Amino acid sequence: PRVVFSGIQPTGVPHLGNYVGALRQWVNLQRDEQPSTKLIYSIVDLHAITVPQKPETLRQRKREVLAALLAIGLDPERCTIFYQSSVPAHSELMWILACTASVGYLSRMTQWKSKLSLASSSTLENKSVGSRLKLGLFSYPVLQAADILVHRATHVPVGHDQQQHLEFARECVTNFNHAYGNHLVHPETIVSPAQRIMSLTEPTSKMSKSHEAQRSRILITDSPQDIRSKIATALTDSTPGISYDPATRPGISNLLEIFSVFDTERRSPAQLAEAYADASPKIFKEAVADALLTGLQGIRDRYLDLSANDSYLDKIEQHGARKAQESAKETMEIVKTAVGL
Ligand code: TYM
Repeated sequence: PRVVFSGIQPTGVPHLGNYVGALRQWVNLQRDEQPSTKLIYSIVDLHAITVPQKPETLRQRKREVLAALLAIGLDPERCTIFYQSSVPAHSELMWILACTASVGYLSRMTQWKSKLSLASSSTLENKSVGSRLKLGLFSYPVLQAADILVHRATHVPVGHDQQQHLEFARECVTNFNHAYGNHLVHPETIVSPAQRIMSLTEPTSKMSKSHEAQRSRILITDSPQDIRSKIATALTDSTPGISYDPATRPGISNLLEIFSVFDTERRSPAQLAEAYADASPKIFKEAVADALLTGLQGIRDRYLDLSANDSYLDKIEQHGARKAQESAKETMEIVKTAVGL
């Protein structure tokens, strides 16, 4: 049986990168998969606490993400939507996986290495970097593997930046199965067809929730005026005309990627570059904003409605959590029996 699983951190309303890289696929799978395929989507609050969080803000952000997932068209009857911490089996399986996971592999992962180098460059006194970084951050990928494996997921739709984490999840399966027998399922990655969406103010780094500048990202619930103005001020270059070349023209190429995703004629970035070859940046950016506004139409209004209704959101989540607990139970029984627990 096919099982789709994916997750998103509750870091506030999803941005365009999340939407294009992952969430749009989540919605489309409702249409493209057989009704027998389980679709399981988690708001991963346990992952969020690998960095400091204010309890009230975290609670608020979880609801924001839930409202956004419903606003983009996920159907809580068709899908299982829940908070990771509502299903203790995620953490329980994580511990068991940790006991066969390799520290060497984890320490070579790019996200950890970039945190490590960031921490060492900002160390003021000569205190060891390792003592300030947290164990939870280091073991983040083990929890992510548990998320996927506890539901016996066969397919995981994510953006490009999650590929290494998925690789590691498969490594966890291999390690566990080698030790205890063939019990866990190797998940396949479904990588988004679109490229990574880049920051609007710094188009050589990816669009992210942690970037300081608000103008660097478009939230999927931004007002039409905000979207127009963020696109209008997106950093481009002084080369005349429009052409697609991510290496030399990252700003324009990022806008072409975004345009292509939302283009009703489904033109590729290169085809759009040809169509707008002689356009001014202003005309081109207006066309990008038009396509984007059409593509995101309705999301903002549905979000505003949903986010005003906490008790409805809580009910939806509890319903999802029950389904997810059921789904995780089977794997935990198999795993515990295999390990001798
Ligand atoms: P998160 O919350 O950072 O991102 C959610 C999804 O959005 C994608 N994404 C992007 N895609 C294209 N361009 C961008 N600029 C961009 N930024 C984010 C991500 O690839 C992701 O698919 N570790 C995960 C959450 C997670 C998870 C899981 C995912 C926890 N457990 C199990 C899959 C399966 C994360 O932090 O995603």
